Amino acid sequence: MNYNVTVIPGDGIGPEIVREAQKVLDKIGEKFGHSFNYTEVLMGGASIDVHGVPLTDETLAVAKASDSVLLGAVGGDVGNSKWYDIAPELRPEAGLLAIRKGMGLFANIRPAYLYEELKDACPLKDEIIGDGFDMVVMRELTGGIYFGERKTEEVDGVMKATDILSYDENEIRRIAVKAFEIAMKRDKRVISVDKANVLDSSRLWRKVVAEVAKDYPEVQLSNMLVDNCAMQLVRDPKQFDVILTENMFGDILSDEASMVTGSIGMLSSASLGATKCGLYEPSHGSAPDIAGKDLANPIATILSAAMMLRYSFDLDQEADAVEAAVKKVLEDGYRTGDIMSQGMKQVGTIEMGSLIAERI
Ligand code: NAI
Ligand code: MG
Repeated sequence: MNYNVTVIPGDGIGPEIVREAQKVLDKIGEKFGHSFNYTEVLMGGASIDVHGVPLTDETLAVAKASDSVLLGAVGGDVGNSKWYDIAPELRPEAGLLAIRKGMGLFANIRPAYLYEELKDACPLKDEIIGDGFDMVVMRELTGGIYFGERKTEEVDGVMKATDILSYDENEIRRIAVKAFEIAMKRDKRVISVDKANVLDSSRLWRKVVAEVAKDYPEVQLSNMLVDNCAMQLVRDPKQFDVILTENMFGDILSDEASMVTGSIGMLSSASLGATKCGLYEPSHGSAPDIAGKDLANPIATILSAAMMLRYSFDLDQEADAVEAAVKKVLEDGYRTGDIMSQGMKQVGTIEMGSLIAERI
């Protein structure tokens, strides 16, 4: 098959890590008989330098017309960059929000996976972690309190600020469907996280999720209150397969879950909408401190490309092959600086990409 992939290298380490992900995709194409056609476009600071804005209409149109988007990261050195002191809507990060919104990407998937080889980086005890840790946080991305009405006002001489948390049933249903679809490809267990003992929006959430669950009889659904979930992630993270939750809870819980896995250089993500065309990017930023030095860990981006294979193209076998190659490289003792430990072999960005591609 032919797949058209929009590639957005972005800023800082973005171009270096995206190049390695493309190297791995090309190897997958060779082995499995696919061809990935790349259209490279500018976003973030790179786009500001050329077009004066972080995302042009044309770039958004290219992204929407393609089968999928692979993104590095955008942004400069906060405080010191030439893109810092400009209007908010013209800053690099505005491009990121605009493309997510423009593509209607309401579902953010963040896997938290601890490789056995990196167990030393996990802050939890061996008896809690056992042979590893593998879960996914499915976070609603375009609704809830981050997108609700807000205001700051003075009432009777007292300052008052308001943020409104609201969801309609359609917003809940579409993210729930995504979570169950993903659970079907995993261990078939969904834990929906809410605060239904207090919030009306959570009561509606719980009701709609239960309705959606009827269409997925193979998937086991349970509900958990968010405060309990925060505790359970540390007490017994292995009980989780897919966490389904609203925007703000997902923001907080996915950071908590990610901490269990060691380095930010290992964490992939996918943002999906109503179509198969998704946006795949590492969870980290543009790391200006190490840009251009062949120091960045490309694994988060390579694993994001694996998610693209799985979720946008339904190429499960190919995605498995990428994940297995990453695991093999770690088993063989290769590490970038961020995951380096004693007795291991330290390699740069380019070599890490090549080592993974070789193992496919
Ligand atoms: P960052 O994630 O870029 O870096 C944080 C720390 O982690 C740095 O010490 C960096 O060297 C290290 N790091 C990050 N990725 C790494 C990798 N692949 N391998 C090895 N080490 C890695 O976050 P920071 O410094 O807060 O932000 C830098 C810029 O990135 C800012 O302009 C920020 O706005 C932007 N940013 C962009 C995101 C995106 O494009 N999705 C997400 C987060 C931040
Ligand atoms: Mg966050």
